[in-house]
Amino acid sequence: MADVPLGSLDAARPAVPPPETFVAGARHADPGIYDDAEADWVGWWERQAHDLAWQRVWQEPLQWDPPFARWFVGGRLNASVSCLDRHVEAGHGAQVAYHWVGEPGDRRDLTYAELAEEVGRLANVLRGLGVARGDRVAIYLPMLPQLVVAMLACARIGAPHSVVYVGFGAQALADRLVDAGAKVLITADGAHRRGEVLPLKRTADVAMGAAESVRSCLVVRRTNSDVRLMPGRDAWYDEVIGQASPICEPEPMDAEDPLFLLYTSGTTGTPKGIVHRTGGYLTHVAATHRMVFDHDPDRDVFWCAVNLGWITGHSYGVYGPLANRATSVLAEGALDHPSAERTWRIAEVDKVTTLYTTPAVIRALRAAGEDGPEAHDLSRLRLLGSVGEPIEPEVWRWYHEVVGGGRCPIVDTWWQTETGGIMLSPLPAITTVKPGSAMRPLPGLEVSVVDDDGARVERGQAGHLTVTRPWPGMLQTIWGDDERYRRTYWSRFGAEVYATGDRARVDADGDLWLLGRDDEVLKVSGYRLSSAELEAAIVDHRAVAEAAVAGRADPLAGQAIVAFVRLRPGYDRDASTVAAQLRQHVIARFGAIARPETIVIVDDLPKTRSGTIMRRLLEELAEGRTPREISALDDPDLVAHLIEATAEAAGGR
Ligand code: WTA
Repeated sequence: MADVPLGSLDAARPAVPPPETFVAGARHADPGIYDDAEADWVGWWERQAHDLAWQRVWQEPLQWDPPFARWFVGGRLNASVSCLDRHVEAGHGAQVAYHWVGEPGDRRDLTYAELAEEVGRLANVLRGLGVARGDRVAIYLPMLPQLVVAMLACARIGAPHSVVYVGFGAQALADRLVDAGAKVLITADGAHRRGEVLPLKRTADVAMGAAESVRSCLVVRRTNSDVRLMPGRDAWYDEVIGQASPICEPEPMDAEDPLFLLYTSGTTGTPKGIVHRTGGYLTHVAATHRMVFDHDPDRDVFWCAVNLGWITGHSYGVYGPLANRATSVLAEGALDHPSAERTWRIAEVDKVTTLYTTPAVIRALRAAGEDGPEAHDLSRLRLLGSVGEPIEPEVWRWYHEVVGGGRCPIVDTWWQTETGGIMLSPLPAITTVKPGSAMRPLPGLEVSVVDDDGARVERGQAGHLTVTRPWPGMLQTIWGDDERYRRTYWSRFGAEVYATGDRARVDADGDLWLLGRDDEVLKVSGYRLSSAELEAAIVDHRAVAEAAVAGRADPLAGQAIVAFVRLRPGYDRDASTVAAQLRQHVIARFGAIARPETIVIVDDLPKTRSGTIMRRLLEELAEGRTPREISALDDPDLVAHLIEATAEAAGGR
């Protein structure tokens, strides 16, 4: 993969120090924090862990048997107690935990006391359905308060949750239900999405038909869609909740017990169930939420404007903020629907101080132009954050100047589903930032950029980003597959070095610039999709013999999907009809996020003599470039045809 020479612009781009007014009001402004953590990094994480509510304190902070780590061994806690009960008991029951805003404009404020009560009720309902400690519960819900309630109710009874993003289709949901062996599914009748209604329950019905483990299904009423409840299996959420007691004893969990699984794409066709544990994960997300967002529960309104079905939503939309008694904003639907003005109105009305979202969202808001942030009173904003992909300098500048009025630091946070929480990021009152760089590891963490042989690269060089010491938020394993965990993350550079799968450059000052993935993983609007999974969804259509996908740089989505498809004999009909059918097929099977933007019907895929698909060549074609290196190609005559077919498909798109 070609390295984008981002770092070559270092000198041309002025670094931005933390604004003085921000520093004056900051809670974490002492640069000594780095040395302090470094002097005893395990002890430092222990100090962070003490901030949670423990039923029994750990005996040992860390057992490291590479590549398996155990954090806070012997400790006992329940995540829902740290997130709810202790705040209510301390007299903060009336504080708003979430300002919820529905897509049609309806609103609901949930206090900590109300949230705790509803969590207790649902936890009792789940226990009544036979869900015991260790059983998995799947959640397929839009951005409703009930999604947070469902996650915490699972935590309360020690049943790991598996949240599946509502953008996924029936097959993707079924695969995740089956892999996790989920006993219960919590869904809604439908979901609002850009003015339309997604038939969630109907999709869930198809998925449950293929997942025998699911014995019960609770359905939240949201869109008043016409749904069928299967007797003996399905029930309305509000009906069962109303009859349940709000008092539910929390299950005493070991620090090492799983809190949840979250599926993410890897390099193969099977999604990986990333397992996060209770004590270490909660410690990491609470500590980083405090540090990176300089959070003050009595001052801030925090808006993590991403979907909760993503790790960012789990860590900074739910667990981190609730552990720190934050008041958050939770918004259903797209931020730029019906117009981007919605975002700025919510920020103004709810007095948002901290906005954390993806470059894809920031680009969409910027592109919307009219009725932008200038038209609203955003004077409460004090800090902005970005996550999920590199942020382009011009987008950074717009975020900084127009949204933040030049007075808000921007934290560019790098991390992954697997790391649980933020790993690389500036500290807003301490770090002088370079727009486009995620800067350095947070206190207590250690990373290294290495060459193919695992040797640390010189300053000014690029290589593979690795993490060289265990950290509390690290994944425990891949659900049901320790071997895949070892192979995927801890084999490339030895069992003690975590391979992130990302490339990065270290600049002359030692700051880090992310250069994208090392493997065949695409990022579409912030979502991670594996080429293999997409290809499997396309090949699944009866007309297709073979398919390969590549990413094309897209000004809004970051990457757009270009699919190269060879049809089976007898299916060489009109290319645009086939393309339309294939697109529908992929959406139905995999979900709208996987929609191929361009479908190129080809006579054959470019392969080497040994039959390997030449992905780099497809990437060049997808980008509209003329392939350079074609000597390895088995059939050199194919190139002219591929160029022509790609141009034609791109034109007709
Ligand atoms: C990419 C997202 C550049 C990276 C929390 C990583 C980033 C993948 C950044 C993980 C950033 C995330 N700058 N690239 N600030 N943050 N990435 O698991 O390639 O959905 O490996 O978790 O997103 O994606 P995931």
